[in-house]
Amino acid sequence: MTINKNDLNKYLDVAREAALKAGIVIKEHFGKVCPSMIDEKAKNDFVTNVDKKSEEIIKGYIKSHFNNHDILAEESSSERKGSTFLWIIDPLDGTLNYIRGLPSFAVSIALEINGDLVVGLIYEPLRENIYAAMRGHGSFKNGRRIHVSRSDTLSASLIATGFPYRIKDIIDPYLRVFKNFFMHAIGIRRGGSACLDLAYTAEGIFEGFFECALSPWDIAAGALLVEEAGGVVTDFNGDRQYLKTGNIIAGTKGVHNEMLRVIQETFKN
Ligand code: IPD
Ligand code: CA
Ligand code: CA
Repeated sequence: MTINKNDLNKYLDVAREAALKAGIVIKEHFGKVCPSMIDEKAKNDFVTNVDKKSEEIIKGYIKSHFNNHDILAEESSSERKGSTFLWIIDPLDGTLNYIRGLPSFAVSIALEINGDLVVGLIYEPLRENIYAAMRGHGSFKNGRRIHVSRSDTLSASLIATGFPYRIKDIIDPYLRVFKNFFMHAIGIRRGGSACLDLAYTAEGIFEGFFECALSPWDIAAGALLVEEAGGVVTDFNGDRQYLKTGNIIAGTKGVHNEMLRVIQETFKN
């Protein structure tokens, strides 16, 4: 299905406005989070009043424009009415950084139509960076076109990852993969916000990113950004089921290829 560019722009504008509104609240409370504002959803998995407020603002704004669209957002139970439109929202990606005063977190909003990602927006409030992608029309940072890195080999790569803290029993294969990349790449970073790991891959800061057991809201917008910036995104089987499996490899064509090979060899043993 081809979607009219004007319509895509309209969806992107709503995502951008929603993220900017949420960003005001996020910035207001940054550095001021106290224990009474924090809940532990699961062990070492936190949510703050600010995550919840941000989500309320984003959902409210989207609903005020597209009341019949479905919404999947991290901090509320999913609202599926059978629409072909699905907004996928992470109101604050990098909550632990935010709580600790580490200035690396973002808002992530994506839109799927009939199961295809068509719009992705990531807003980094402290740096006022807006990353935006529309299917078939490229990826942009603050209105300027971005592309993945030209480096196409692992040995010339800075790789980003996240630790599998929710499923600690895969730590051994994860560490074997980590060791392989550690021995071959220029360096490895763990920034604490998966959507920013992907945005930075789309703009060529990182050549590749991999992580396991993520949720759709962590990666939907960022995956589209990487693809529209000329990169490749798959799950650990080399398929495009990363939103379902939560396992993701993203990078330049060559680096993605090398990472996929290492991950497949390691995880099957
Ligand atoms: C987390 C961040 C982090 C990743 C975690 C995610 P949250 O999202 O993206 O980088 O490693 O697995 O859950 O909880 O801060 O929205
Ligand atoms: Ca997240
Ligand atoms: Ca979040």
